[in-house]
Amino acid sequence: MADLSTTYMGVPLKNPLIVAASSISNYVDKVKRAEEVGAGALVIRSLFEEQIQHDEMTMADFLERAAYISPEVHSSFYPPVESGGPREHLMWVEKTRRAVSMPIFASLNAVSPGAWVEYARQLQETGVAGLEINYYVVAADPDVPGSELEQRLFDIVESVTQAVSIPVAVKLSPYYTSTPNVVREIEKRGAKAVVLFNRFLQPDIDIDEETLVNDMVLSSSREMKVPLRWVALLYGRTKLDLALNTGVHSGRDIVKAILAGASVVQVASALLENGLPYISTMLLELQGWMEEKGYDTLAEFRGKVSQQNVLDPFGFERAQYMKLLMAQQ
Ligand SMILES: Cc1cc2nc3c(=O)[nH]c(=O)nc-3n(C[C@H](O)[C@H](O)[C@H](O)COP(=O)(O)O)c2cc1C
Repeated sequence: MADLSTTYMGVPLKNPLIVAASSISNYVDKVKRAEEVGAGALVIRSLFEEQIQHDEMTMADFLERAAYISPEVHSSFYPPVESGGPREHLMWVEKTRRAVSMPIFASLNAVSPGAWVEYARQLQETGVAGLEINYYVVAADPDVPGSELEQRLFDIVESVTQAVSIPVAVKLSPYYTSTPNVVREIEKRGAKAVVLFNRFLQPDIDIDEETLVNDMVLSSSREMKVPLRWVALLYGRTKLDLALNTGVHSGRDIVKAILAGASVVQVASALLENGLPYISTMLLELQGWMEEKGYDTLAEFRGKVSQQNVLDPFGFERAQYMKLLMAQQ
């Protein structure tokens, strides 16, 4: 039987399928089920500083309105009422972590530099195996150059890796001008893995109502081509573990990710679409392929189709094929 075990940021995993940060981690029962059906690890959905700020503002707003209706309201809340801050999230991360034996990773999206450090420390105290930095910006402000946004990311990575002793992964967006340069800079600042890539809400327009539509649309397997290219280009050029994320929808997709050089894959949409038992379907497909090919371990074929190992290395850099473009009718 093929051995699917691997390591991610130094953490041993029984297989390379990690449940990505998503609503799956909203319920401990679902996390337990993910483990039962074979998941190698799970990332808990992000602690969002903005959400905490929003909750605090909602609480302040509620107290202010209540005081307007009844001036005694402030004095009737003694000791003074505060929103839960990150406490609720932290308690729930710890509870989830204790409920399973597979490694659990936390994820953080903060705004202020102090919060990145403080929340990272607090998440570490929950006993998680590692921490994912979920940093993204929709760079809509023409006054802010890309270099400034990148520098903010580098500063965050540096301050978080210095503040915690658990391994840190950085989940990137696919919109950097030079992904390899960004990866090298975060490696210098102490990260242990990079997740390629996060996937954002893609606003749409309802032409009947003439309004903005912000529905959650799940990914498709076709979207895997973008991270696949970047994993293949980065393999062998960085010491960071490469986690391929976005568009992994089958065991065959996991095979492709590992051939390109990924240490692990992260999966959300395929599981939300097909249910958690689909984890075992994907793993059986991976195992079946390995047995058919005569591979005993993932290491035997990891990176075999990365840029440095293919006959046509330029193939991963080529943006347009004239012959293919001309052949399209
Ligand atoms: C319902 C839902 C919630 C998500 N929540 C988070 C989150 O809290 N933090 C994060 O970094 N990514 C979050 N993501 C993004 C996923 O982790 C993943 O990067 C993305 O869905 C691409 O993977 P997929 O193609 O397997 O869906 C979420 C995705 C979904 C569908």
